[in-house]
Amino acid sequence: MEIIVLPDTDQVARTAADIIEERVRRGPAVVGLATGSTPLGTYRELIRRHREEGLSFTDAHAFLLDEYVGLPASHPESYRSVIRREIADHVDFASDAVHGLDGEAADPAAEAARYDASIAAAGGIDVQILGIGTDGHIGFNEPMSSLASRTRIKTLTEQTRRDNARFFARPDDVPEHVLTQGLGTILEARHVLLLGLGEAKAGAVAAAVEGPVAALCPASALQLHQHVTVLIDAAAASELEHTEYYQYTYGKKPAWQGFRAARRR
Ligand code: F6R
Repeated sequence: MEIIVLPDTDQVARTAADIIEERVRRGPAVVGLATGSTPLGTYRELIRRHREEGLSFTDAHAFLLDEYVGLPASHPESYRSVIRREIADHVDFASDAVHGLDGEAADPAAEAARYDASIAAAGGIDVQILGIGTDGHIGFNEPMSSLASRTRIKTLTEQTRRDNARFFARPDDVPEHVLTQGLGTILEARHVLLLGLGEAKAGAVAAAVEGPVAALCPASALQLHQHVTVLIDAAAASELEHTEYYQYTYGKKPAWQGFRAARRR
């Protein structure tokens, strides 16, 4: 894991955008997109680079990380709507290049299997953006999710439903079930970017990065991945014990190393 502590949210967004831009400019790329508040600055920066610096997504595909069960694609808080609103409508993905899960599928297990197969058919995900939940979830893999899990239906914890209530008119409107890429699915991405912003994430970030690999903190599964970049602001880093070491190694990062996502297998 490369752990990079940056002074503020803008620098986290710019560094995440640098990594995605580098991969997208290098040739056909498959990008994994998270929703929630954390990646919004990164998406805004990518949109700016598209408008002002010619960054084009015409050869790229995108796969969403998860979706609420029971919300139609047209619902403003379905993750397909959110991704359209926050990034896809403002850049130049081909019309059929942004893939999501159907939260209204009559057979969620079949929908999940279809989704894993479509990621594989696209050649796998080159760069996966992740936020982290206050309970350590990535995607919607709540505590005790199997570290080998595939895309499937999950029940949200009350804590996650409370955390996400801000997006809905009433707390009870937050769906109880979701379809999410599994931890095993996420671990197959070639490069994972875990973003963490704000003090509310400090405990989850510390458990994920410095705690044991344990289903109790699903994000800790990323310790098993060979290419993870953790980009966090100072507040999200506030419970880490080894920040000085992370800053020392980042300061010594050789220019030739860059952040390059691994080449396609
Ligand atoms: C979003 C997702 C979640 C969020 C996490 C953090 O697609 O899968 O894991 O990344 O809940 O949410 P925010 O960024 O809103 O704090």
